[in-house]
Amino acid sequence: MIYDVMTLFPEMIESYCAESITKRGIKEGIITVNTHNPRDYTLDKHKKVDDTPYGGGGGMVLMAQPVFDCYRSIKKHENSIFIMLTPQGEKYNQDIALELSKYEQIIMLCGHYEGFDERIRLGLNPREISIGDYVLTGGELGALVLIDSISRNLKGYLGEDVCSSNDSFSKGLEGMLEYPQYTKPREFEGMLVPEVLLNGNHKEIDEYRKQESIKRTKNRRPDLFKSHFAD
Ligand SMILES: C[S@@+](CC[C@H](N)C(=O)[O-])C[C@H]1O[C@@H](n2cnc3c(N)ncnc32)[C@H](O)[C@@H]1O
Repeated sequence: MIYDVMTLFPEMIESYCAESITKRGIKEGIITVNTHNPRDYTLDKHKKVDDTPYGGGGGMVLMAQPVFDCYRSIKKHENSIFIMLTPQGEKYNQDIALELSKYEQIIMLCGHYEGFDERIRLGLNPREISIGDYVLTGGELGALVLIDSISRNLKGYLGEDVCSSNDSFSKGLEGMLEYPQYTKPREFEGMLVPEVLLNGNHKEIDEYRKQESIKRTKNRRPDLFKSHFAD
């Protein structure tokens, strides 16, 4: 998977990707993360990339020209999608992460300041994605959320014996929340590991986990529970 992130703050993307599993994914060639700075493409002699909005109002708006030229400079692969991070987009979830993991290349545009000149949407026709109903200062956190959550679905990304198919929202759990997990020791401050997890009977363990997953989803996310049992 190739991620091409258009951002005025490439270090934000690069520093996150230099750690943990993302770092390993890059080292093993499972993902590639490139950054592209629209500031490098501005025709303005002062390197300006934003300006005040027509019609007045506070803040600065990202100009179309540097973004268009930056986007056009990126090599497009055959199975590629262009995404704009914006609070006005469709709300991101695990199904979208899974869907996007099938692409070969994801180009992402991070806004900053007050947002984008509308002609960026109109002229480049991105898929617009929001990571939630709140407003961030920039799209970089959104791009990182996508990189992280999409990459987890790629073969080999989590390592040999780890898979994402039993995570919350995954198909393995039929879209529900994950069951409670325990590790050593068996007793901690008077709290015991449930007996069923210790007996080695995998049929019983699977059934226990399934029931816990259902119970947890019903209590915490009645919306997910309802949609699961409505099917
Ligand atoms: C301060 S926000 C601009 C918000 C814009 N004025 C509006 O009301 O829609 C600056 C940038 O942060 C990013 N951003 C903010 N909230 C986001 C969210 N919930 N999801 C994805 N990106 C977001 C977008 O790239 C946006 O252009």
